[in-house]
Amino acid sequence: MMTTTTTISSPTLSLSLSPTCHSRFHPNPISSISPFNKIKLITPQRRSIFTFTMEAVDSSSSSSISNNNNSNSNSSVWKQLQKGIAEFYDESSSLWENIWGDHMHHGFYDPDSTQVSLSDHTTAQIRMIEEALRFAGMTSGGDDEMEVVDVGCGIGGSSRYLANKFNAKCEGITLSPVQAQRANQLAFAQGLAHKVSFQVADALEQPFEDGKFDLVWSMESGEHMPDKQKFVSELVRVAAPGGRIIIVTWCHRDLEEGEESLQEWEQNLLKKICDAFYLPAWCSTAHYVKLLQSHSLEDIKSADWSANVAPFWPAVIKSALTWKGFTSLLRAGMKTIKGALAMPLMIEGFKKGVIKFSIITCRKPPLSSSS
Ligand SMILES: C[S@@+](CC[C@H](N)C(=O)[O-])C[C@H]1O[C@@H](n2cnc3c(N)ncnc32)[C@H](O)[C@@H]1O
Repeated sequence: MMTTTTTISSPTLSLSLSPTCHSRFHPNPISSISPFNKIKLITPQRRSIFTFTMEAVDSSSSSSISNNNNSNSNSSVWKQLQKGIAEFYDESSSLWENIWGDHMHHGFYDPDSTQVSLSDHTTAQIRMIEEALRFAGMTSGGDDEMEVVDVGCGIGGSSRYLANKFNAKCEGITLSPVQAQRANQLAFAQGLAHKVSFQVADALEQPFEDGKFDLVWSMESGEHMPDKQKFVSELVRVAAPGGRIIIVTWCHRDLEEGEESLQEWEQNLLKKICDAFYLPAWCSTAHYVKLLQSHSLEDIKSADWSANVAPFWPAVIKSALTWKGFTSLLRAGMKTIKGALAMPLMIEGFKKGVIKFSIITCRKPPLSSSS
């Protein structure tokens, strides 16, 4: 079998990505599909200091790739996934914050941007928020104090930004107790504790009354939701009449006419990413649009921003290959290391068009037009 090794280098370390040699004794179709099964970290002296073999996920595992709306939010599979998500972010959030700051999402770049510095990436993460608001038609907050819910809030970067921008009141929810605590700490430190607050809660059973929020914000949390239908219906439930819903999320490509599922190699690639990042079934952008359409919402729009996020993952990998990044990664723990080692799979997924970075927005009809 022909094998190709891909190497990503920084002055301190390089990352060598090569196929696991399963050979004729142990044929594994996945190894011939993804070139990134075996991962080695190498010093400039060509000494290998870390070797990691990604396990191929069994295709009979619980995460199916195309979301079929089976409600499994109460199942033990969901409980297990929930625990994994919480632990993953408990473990990795301070590392992320130390290197990247308080936004745990992609940056938005001009297509074909090259030579981007770390401070440009931080600017691009803010731009992501601004572009999302612009896409949803939200350039100003209106006269009354706006109420915002940040669904899957991380350490609260979006909430604090939105609170400052719109003088809004924000409530954030996350599965990670460490994130909720850090988000509240940062709010306090920035004099925003009277405006923003964070708690541990499940996006699929939000602790809020119906119709509370003028802006329902989900920045890169939807991909963790095992039941997209329930997720969307919760977003719609807590939105106020006239309120906006903004979902920015990872999707798989839309299926072609006549296609019933992704191709097997695409499914296998996504399964490996699911395993590393604690993700359940993926769905397409078209699927989100359909779910929103089932709720009689207005102004439903979507866009593919994959080209605008292209510089992001190479930059994250580069930052992990600095000495600070690498030692922090080793200290963070196995879940974080496994996530980091799956990052090249995201690049592969985007390059091959399997993964799409999507925005989907809509508005809940105001009372006058809905009654
Ligand atoms: C990639 S981070 C994004 C964080 C934040 N939105 C940002 O842009 O900085 C994903 C977030 O989704 C949260 N999350 C995942 N599943 C969730 C669920 N069912 N309920 C609440 N939060 C969830 C995680 O705890 C984490 O905070």
